[in-house]
Amino acid sequence: MSISKAANRNVTSQNSVFQRLQIQRLLAATQIIAPSTGSDVVKGLTQTSKSLPPCYFYDDRGSELFEQICDLPEYYLTRTETTILQQYAGEIAEITGACELVELGSGSSTKTRILLDAYQQLGYPLHYLPIDVCAGMLESSAKQLLRDYPSLQVCALAGTYELALAKLLPTQLPSRMVCFIGSSLGNLTPSECNVFFSQITEALQVGEYFLLGVDLRKSKQILEPAYSDSQGVTAAFNLNMLEHLNQRFEGNFDTTQFEHWAFYNESEHQIEMHLRSLRSQIVELRALNLKVNFALGETILTEISRKFDLNILKQQLAAQGLSPLHVWTDPPNQWFGLLLCQLQA
Ligand code: AVJ
Repeated sequence: MSISKAANRNVTSQNSVFQRLQIQRLLAATQIIAPSTGSDVVKGLTQTSKSLPPCYFYDDRGSELFEQICDLPEYYLTRTETTILQQYAGEIAEITGACELVELGSGSSTKTRILLDAYQQLGYPLHYLPIDVCAGMLESSAKQLLRDYPSLQVCALAGTYELALAKLLPTQLPSRMVCFIGSSLGNLTPSECNVFFSQITEALQVGEYFLLGVDLRKSKQILEPAYSDSQGVTAAFNLNMLEHLNQRFEGNFDTTQFEHWAFYNESEHQIEMHLRSLRSQIVELRALNLKVNFALGETILTEISRKFDLNILKQQLAAQGLSPLHVWTDPPNQWFGLLLCQLQA
C-alpha cells in the first residue's frame, strides 16, 4: 500500500470515529416520551362510527410506505412543497435569522435539509429538534443528517407532537422556528386545529416563528388519485395500520379481509380514508382486552386530510396571535401553501 493510501485510510477511520461519537450523542439525546397505552384505539373502535388515529400509520413499515407515497406520480403534495421550499428557504432564513429548528412529524427530514442548507449558507449555527412518533425513522434520519452536516446539533424526541411541544426547553439560539410542513395539519379536525395552534403559541416566545405547510383546495380529479394511487401503495399504507395494531396490541386483524377506500368529501373539503370490512367478522386485540364486531361493508375511518383555503387559515392563525408574515405558493397552480407566522405579544 502506498503511503498516501495509508494516510487516506487513517483520515477515513478518524472520520468514522468522529461520526460514531456524534451518533452516540444523538442516541443519548433520543428520548421516547410517551409509549401509547392504546386507550385511543379502544375509544375509536368502540364508537358507532369506527375510527383510528392516523399516528398508528407510522411504524417502521408505515413510515417506509409513506416515503414511497411521497414519490408517487399522483401524490403532488411533497413535490410541490419541496419546490416552494427550494425557492424560498433563503428568504425564510433571512427573515428569521439564526434560530433553532423544531420539526413536528419530521419523518425522513428530506425537506428539512433545504432549510438547513439555507441557514448554513448564511453562516448560522444549526440546531435541530426533530419530533416523530416513529423512533426508528427518527434515529436513522438524524444519524444521516449528522453525517452530512458536520456542525449540526440534533436533539430528537420520539412521541406525539402535543407531548413534545409541552416539553421544549428554552432555545440557546436567538430565536426558534417550529416547522409543521407536509400538510399534516390536515389530519386535525377544525376544533383539534385550534387546540393545536394554542399549543404552538404556548411553546413559542413572543417574536418566534411557526412555519406551516398546507395542501390547498382543488378539484376532486386531482385530489382523489393522490389517495388511491394506481400502484396500490396508499392501500398498503392504510392496511399496514392493522398490522401495526396486531403487533402492538396482540391483535388478529386479517388484512385480506379489509380494503382501502378513499374519497373527497367536497362539503367538508377533506379526503377521507377508510378501511372497509369485506365480511362480517370479529377481531380481537388481546393486549387491550377488546373484541370488535364488524358488519359486512362497515368501515373504519383512519384519516382525514383537510384541504385549506389560505384566507380562512390566515385569519385563524392571526386570531391565535400567530400572525402570518409571508405566504408562498406554487405558481401558477397554487396547489400548496407555505406560511411563515410570528407570535405576537
Ligand atoms: C402526512 C397527513 C400529510 O394527508 O396527505 C398520504 C398522509 N395519507 N396518503 C396526507 C397520507 C395517505 C398525508 N399527511
